[in-house]
Amino acid sequence: MPFGAFTALHLLLIALLFSGVLLPAGGRKRSGLRRSTVRLDDSSIYLWPLPKQYSHGSQTLTVDPDIALEARGPGGSSAIVSEAFDRYKNLVFKQQAGYAGGDHDIAKLIVVVASENDTLQLGVNESYTLYIRGASDGGRLSIVSEVSIEANTIYGALRGLETLSQLCIYNYDTKTIEVHKAPWFIQDEPRFSYRGLLLDTSRHFLPVNIIKQVIESMSYAKLNVLHWHIIDEESFPLEVPTYPNLWEGSYTKWERYTVEDAYEIVDFAKRRGIHIMAEIDVPGHAESWGVGYPALWPSRNCTETLDVTKNFSFEVISGILTDMRKIFPFELFHLGGDEVHGDCWLSTPHVKEWLNQHNMTTNDAYQYFVLRAQDIAIAHNWTPVNWEETFNSFGEKLNPHTVVHNWLGPGVCPKVVAKGLRCIASNQGVWYLDHLDIPWEDFYTSEPLEGINVTSQQELVLGGEVCMWGETTDTSDVQQTIWPRAAAAAERLWSSIEATSAGGLNDTVLHRLQYFRGLLNHRGVPAAPVTNRYARQPPIGPGSCFSQ
Ligand SMILES: *[C@@H]1O[C@H](CO)[C@@H](O)[C@H](O)[C@H]1NC(C)=O
Ligand SMILES: *[C@@H]1O[C@H](CO)[C@@H](O)[C@H](O)[C@H]1NC(C)=O
Ligand SMILES: *[C@@H]1O[C@H](CO)[C@@H](O)[C@H](O)[C@H]1NC(C)=O
Ligand SMILES: *[C@@H]1O[C@H](CO)[C@@H](O)[C@H](O)[C@H]1NC(C)=O
Ligand SMILES: *[C@@H]1O[C@H](CO)[C@@H](O)[C@H](O)[C@H]1NC(C)=O
Ligand SMILES: *[C@@H]1O[C@H](CO)[C@@H](O)[C@H](O)[C@H]1NC(C)=O
Ligand SMILES: *[C@@H]1O[C@H](CO)[C@@H](O)[C@H](O)[C@H]1NC(C)=O
Repeated sequence: MPFGAFTALHLLLIALLFSGVLLPAGGRKRSGLRRSTVRLDDSSIYLWPLPKQYSHGSQTLTVDPDIALEARGPGGSSAIVSEAFDRYKNLVFKQQAGYAGGDHDIAKLIVVVASENDTLQLGVNESYTLYIRGASDGGRLSIVSEVSIEANTIYGALRGLETLSQLCIYNYDTKTIEVHKAPWFIQDEPRFSYRGLLLDTSRHFLPVNIIKQVIESMSYAKLNVLHWHIIDEESFPLEVPTYPNLWEGSYTKWERYTVEDAYEIVDFAKRRGIHIMAEIDVPGHAESWGVGYPALWPSRNCTETLDVTKNFSFEVISGILTDMRKIFPFELFHLGGDEVHGDCWLSTPHVKEWLNQHNMTTNDAYQYFVLRAQDIAIAHNWTPVNWEETFNSFGEKLNPHTVVHNWLGPGVCPKVVAKGLRCIASNQGVWYLDHLDIPWEDFYTSEPLEGINVTSQQELVLGGEVCMWGETTDTSDVQQTIWPRAAAAAERLWSSIEATSAGGLNDTVLHRLQYFRGLLNHRGVPAAPVTNRYARQPPIGPGSCFSQ
């Protein structure tokens, strides 16, 4: 063998060996990925969503694992506050017990709540002020360190507790919880009063515990409305005492919510400052209703859309709303109204005849149905929310209190508020979580007030909502499909426009989101990597979770 050929072959073999390609099975194969630089550093602020205003110093304070709550003001003694304090204490000190004892800087948290009124209504004041005063001489004297949260309502106090918990960082060298960059002065309140997440329990059933886990994780990102899309054409999982056959439309008898389950979800959410907005989608998307009551189907040929000709359809809606009113105290109720296919009505002889008698087109009948359902909801002291097709088809006929829920595309809320109606933004191109190819950046940069520059019209935009439709999601992957992308929208909805738009999408935001994703993971939420090509995919190679 000529020398030249020998070396060429061997150089190739050596190169392959070093690249790992020829390593024997069982050997540790190095991945082709370079270890990415972890850019988390002590100089950055790792809060998500960013508070409205904050200032800080450079002191480090330690926190006593036995930190005590001192409740002040009429609302401070609310059980909602003390339970939340205990929850956060467990979260912060969960894995690392640390050492208790007298020489910690922070041994007490003062929570001052001005109002004892725990009514959770849209626009409830969620503002808070968080002070972390350091020891003035730089020493470690618990007497001079003071931490306090001041809020108008207990719900503001909950938001302050979340922020404080994010400032509590474990030091692996000293095995203590520390607050860095003290003293802190944070004044915070949300930009929008409606910061929602839709959860669909019809396409796949989600057990109560999973719904609770989603609610708990929403509170970490300061989201405040769970839009519970309970029922759809595929299944009717909820118990309705007035019409007890309705939940025969559930997939199985083990995929159902009792009335007690629903009460429990509402109560669990309230204790985290989260509203539950229930939805029954009418008149379309309603096939599952007819499993228990076939008279709701126009015919065996036409089962997707409720029968517009029968009073029974409206009696059932009224019965459901009567039962639900006891369970869901939130003032908004979603009546759906999307994707109504009138052809099925037209091809059903008795409906066609009724339409002729009433001189109605299918679109007239759609309008008639939606408006009659709105009247029922209003009679139950609810504010109706409807998907945007209702506005697009007969916007001027909608009840003036209607909240229009955008989803089809951009530019809808500007038209809605120009007509004086309120709007929730959920443009599917940027805020549908089931669209796995939408990256976090698109969630982050989607601005609900885009195209609306009159202040009085801007005020009609309640906020926005990310939607977790359930066709291809169930308990096995719902949380990693929601997080971290829902958090990107959560900051858009909570933080000031200056914080979310002025600096643009730079690495600071990415690293802060990666840190928040790590925080979710540490708290037991299986949030997926931030920089995935597709949502909820596992990481593509080894590396720090804080840089993926
Ligand atoms: C609590 O606040 C709500 C909303 O502002 C109000 O309707 C209700 O009357 C208040 N309750 C009490 C006991 O003051
Ligand atoms: C909440 O209370 C704070 C402090 O009193 C006030 O500045 C703010 O305007 C209130 N926000 C709302 C939405 O009422
Ligand atoms: C259907 O309901 C309407 C409105 O409540 C009522 O006027 C009408 O008499 C009812 N029709 C029947 C057949 O019950
Ligand atoms: C069902 O559909 C067939 C074919 O379109 C039609 O002939 C028939 O009248 C329909 N039946 C009912 C009850 O609507
Ligand atoms: C039927 O409705 C059309 C359009 O709304 C209207 O022009 C027409 O006069 C109506 N006919 C009757 C008989 O009411
Ligand atoms: C809103 O701003 C756009 C672009 O900045 C402008 O073209 C439009 O005239 C403004 N509309 C109103 C109602 O001021
Ligand atoms: C990124 O933007 C934020 C404001 O959103 C700003 O405070 C920060 O300095 C910017 N960082 C870089 C590296 O440009």
